[in-house]
Amino acid sequence: MSENHNSAGGVPTTGHVWDDDLGDFVNQPPKWWMLGLTASAIWVVVYFAMYPSIPVAINGSYWHGLGLPGSGQWTAIKELAADQKALDDVRQPYEDKLKAMTPAQILADANLSEYVARSGKVLFSDNCAACHGQNGIGTKQEGSKFAQREQGYMAPILNDDDWLYGGDIDTIYETISGGRQGMMVAHEGMVSDADIDTLANAVAKGEPTSTPLFAASGCTACHGEDGKGMHAMGSANLTDKIWRFDGSVEGIKQTIKYGVNSGNPNARIAIMPNFTEAGKLSAVEMKKLAVYVYKFGGGQPSAAPEAAPVAADAAASAASEPAAQ
Ligand code: HEC
Ligand code: HEC
Repeated sequence: MSENHNSAGGVPTTGHVWDDDLGDFVNQPPKWWMLGLTASAIWVVVYFAMYPSIPVAINGSYWHGLGLPGSGQWTAIKELAADQKALDDVRQPYEDKLKAMTPAQILADANLSEYVARSGKVLFSDNCAACHGQNGIGTKQEGSKFAQREQGYMAPILNDDDWLYGGDIDTIYETISGGRQGMMVAHEGMVSDADIDTLANAVAKGEPTSTPLFAASGCTACHGEDGKGMHAMGSANLTDKIWRFDGSVEGIKQTIKYGVNSGNPNARIAIMPNFTEAGKLSAVEMKKLAVYVYKFGGGQPSAAPEAAPVAADAAASAASEPAAQ
């Protein structure tokens, strides 16, 4: 152990020496470093005093903080509420207008219909997509555990031009608010198997009227003289080869034999829920959905001019809140 000084600069050391050569200096840290340390120590105290910082129970509570000058005690909830209020302020004028407007009026207002279509997208994903598929492209249920009667789509495709009940805005609103349940009688026993076979083959080709059996079996009463369907009955267009159920000859035979919602145990099921009765959606939400669905119905004029983007985004997040309105 030599003296506690480094040989070169004479700086004091702790006296520990390794390998005969390495010593431990006792230099003070630089001034800037000490200042920083002191400043952060003071900041910790100030921060703890101002913010809710101590999670231990004090009288069954916690340290709420003294609050920030001007804005009072800070909490994450308050900050969230303030953010939501900012959104509500943007949305409110739109939401107020919607209450008094019909779906057709909303659609005619370019700005509003854009706002509404955006929140409609979220509402659709939450309430409709399970049956109708994202963006109304349909959900196939082929290969499901269900029997033949369940084959085809869960529900009609909505993003095409083919409507059972009609694709105008008022009808779409009616469908959503009132539900639908199209009915096709079971023809088993009424029409012979051979005739059902002939009918199914004609229908599969998209040419139902090519056989006189189509009229003779009473199909025209619901599907129309031309086989193109009648909106009043929700009967399918049989000439466009757009199939909701199984479109193979076998599948069509099944539909003709057992019908749709006919009460026959093998009947195909087609129930569009009544969203007013279900109480799941408000009138404004159903209007939003009607406009949204109308807009992706193919061939409809898409009125989507400039709209306030902030409002539109606000609408989208509004709709994702579970209990909006
Ligand atoms: C439980 C499944 C199910 C859900 C959920 C559902 N639908 Fe439907 N929807 C159907 C079925 C089935 C039909 C066909 C009814 C028929 O054939 O009579 C239908 C029909 C429709 C039609 C009429 C289509 C046409 O061609 O005329 C529209 C529009 C529609 N649904 C929109 C919606 C909207 C919007 C929602 C969400 C709010 C929704 N549906 C939720 C099953 C569903
Ligand atoms: C009482 C009215 C009624 C009668 C009669 C009727 N249909 Fe239908 N049919 C319907 C309705 C309503 C639908 C649509 C059900 C749905 O999509 O929800 C339908 C659907 C169909 C489908 C399924 C179409 C698809 O997209 O998958 C076929 C096929 C069909 N009918 C053929 C016939 C034939 C053939 C006859 C005559 C033997 C006939 N229907 C008689 C009401 C009727």
